[in-house]
Amino acid sequence: MVSTVFIAKETHPEESRVAASVDSVKKMIALGLEVTVQKGAGAASQIPDNAYADVGAKLSAATAAKSADVVLRVRRPTDAEIKNYKKGAAVIAIMDPYGNEKALAVLAKAGLSTFAMELMPRITRAQVMDVLSSQANLAGYQAVIDAAHEFDRAMPMMMTAAGTVPAAKIFVMGAGVAGLQAIATGRRLGAVVSATDVRPAAKEQVASLGGKFIAVEDEEFKAAETAGGYAKEMSKEYQAKQAALVADHIAKQDIVITTALIPGRPAPKLVSKQMLKSMKPGSLCVDLAVERGGNVEGAKAGEIAEVEGVRIIGYNNVAGRISASASQLYAKNLLSFLETLIDKDAKSLAINPEDELVKATMLTHDGKIVHPNFGGATDTKGDA
Ligand code: NAI
Repeated sequence: MVSTVFIAKETHPEESRVAASVDSVKKMIALGLEVTVQKGAGAASQIPDNAYADVGAKLSAATAAKSADVVLRVRRPTDAEIKNYKKGAAVIAIMDPYGNEKALAVLAKAGLSTFAMELMPRITRAQVMDVLSSQANLAGYQAVIDAAHEFDRAMPMMMTAAGTVPAAKIFVMGAGVAGLQAIATGRRLGAVVSATDVRPAAKEQVASLGGKFIAVEDEEFKAAETAGGYAKEMSKEYQAKQAALVADHIAKQDIVITTALIPGRPAPKLVSKQMLKSMKPGSLCVDLAVERGGNVEGAKAGEIAEVEGVRIIGYNNVAGRISASASQLYAKNLLSFLETLIDKDAKSLAINPEDELVKATMLTHDGKIVHPNFGGATDTKGDA
């Protein structure tokens, strides 16, 4: 039987993204699937209901989820929303599973097959499904735009008859996907950009974008990258050396943008109160790691905090601040993954538990938590 896909309207107050674009709905329909979009789902991403309807989607209330075989979402559904889902349905979203084992148990009990997009392996085949990259890239861009908005000075150097305005100095801590885009965006605006990371591969990438690389390059640094391309948690000794090195540098910066994360761990603390105190009046930090505990001491999630005279921008869901672009890319990530879960002849859901993408992302199935990182079966290898 042809499967029905339901596009949910997000209920989290800070979620402006949507799990499908007009283009992704069109492609799902071309695959032979039936698509139902909850009314208003795309409104905060500038996609009106009629744009989905024009390409063949049905519009409905939240209750239509009851008959869906697949639910596409941005965030993990609430316990109340799950009550409305069909047993055996597949739910694909950014599930935020770490530390939320109770919620996973509820999903399992409801008989849902749930998939965490953020656990997608970083292999060539899955690049098009990599939500961490698609969203972090936009967040890195937006971090610089948010900083520029709050900054009371110009970003580029300006030589005018009335005098010279110096270029702003931006220091990016964590040169992964978000950090590299922040470097590129800062450079485009004319700032002088430097960056640090604990992974040796970042050095060349920072340099290729015109940024100056600053890091403690010892033996631990040389071994800091995991097979999955992520950073390891660094030792106390390394962190102390790193802090000493960046302390001098930070004192000379106008804007510090922090993006440092370690999968499944709280964000490393990189900028202390003491460092903030050393910065010039009017300096800014943007802490993109704030939702995972923050890289900057005193950063507050969802706020611009002021610590030692420095404003720390700690907006939540920064990719969602550029929602239309974020939804467009997220929708494409989801569609690409969904295509691998569909039997194209039967036009219906056919989950292959042996597929490495399924093994890496499936959290719950058949009433159980199945992912090895969350107490499920241990016969699969997780590299997180
Ligand atoms: P992430 O979001 O987990 O962390 C951000 C950055 O913080 C990372 O570069 C990490 O090394 C850095 N970091 C962690 N602890 C730090 C500390 N104490 N001090 C300074 N920096 C610290 O990482 P993200 O953005 O997901 O990227 C990780 C890597 O994966 C990058 O090399 C990226 O290019 C690569 N990647 C590979 C893909 C593929 O092969 N398909 C797709 C996307 C990214």
